[in-house]
Amino acid sequence: MEERLQKILAAAGIASRREAEKIILAGRVKVNGKTITELGCKFDAASCRITVDGKAIAAEKKVYYVFYKPRGVVTTMADPQKRRTVADFMQELPERVFPVGRLDYNTEGLLLMTNDGELAQKLMHPSHEVNKTYLVRVPGIVPQEKLDLLRIGVQLEDGLTAPAVVNLRTYDHERNNTLFDITIHEGRNRQVRRMCDFIGFPVRDLKRIKLGPLNLSGLSKGKFRKLTEAELSELKKAAGL
Ligand code: URA
Repeated sequence: MEERLQKILAAAGIASRREAEKIILAGRVKVNGKTITELGCKFDAASCRITVDGKAIAAEKKVYYVFYKPRGVVTTMADPQKRRTVADFMQELPERVFPVGRLDYNTEGLLLMTNDGELAQKLMHPSHEVNKTYLVRVPGIVPQEKLDLLRIGVQLEDGLTAPAVVNLRTYDHERNNTLFDITIHEGRNRQVRRMCDFIGFPVRDLKRIKLGPLNLSGLSKGKFRKLTEAELSELKKAAGL
């Protein structure tokens, strides 16, 4: 069956359809050895050899990794400003994985990397957004009433935040800072940083330590590991699959 190239790429888990269009326009896709840069072209995925950046997409096995993103790395597969990207760390993989959701350049921690476009879409959909836990360090000693504001919800320019779970970990009086964790299920841009700005304690360090059933166990910065069977089945359940 003939289908539009961007649809084939999305179905193969390369990227969302919109991202796939950008990949095509960038001249990164070849069909039977010929570079295709038009969006309207239709092909039969079963009878063509389709590659992205030289890697074949056909019949790609779905793979799932937890990646420990260091600070100073962009959550994209390519960066026009030539900064380090998450793709730089996954080059040894035969499959083309992409990040599910994003972490800011200066946020470290857990990123799910996969080539399963369907799971990625479900996880990102507001109706399935899974819990995400962040470890936050801010300068100063944050009073309980301020942490309560985060728990109740704060008014950001894009609306009130949903109630969050906040646990105070330590007050470090010597270094004058506070360490706490916060669990949210929304996925707004720079949400934790903006919430902390709102209470008057801008973030110094931010690290995602959990995403649904996933954690960073066994990983050091810049490393990745395969999800266990149990993690994958819990993650799929959380995504409604
Ligand atoms: N919230 C933020 O502010 N930044 C991130 O990277 C993730 C969540």
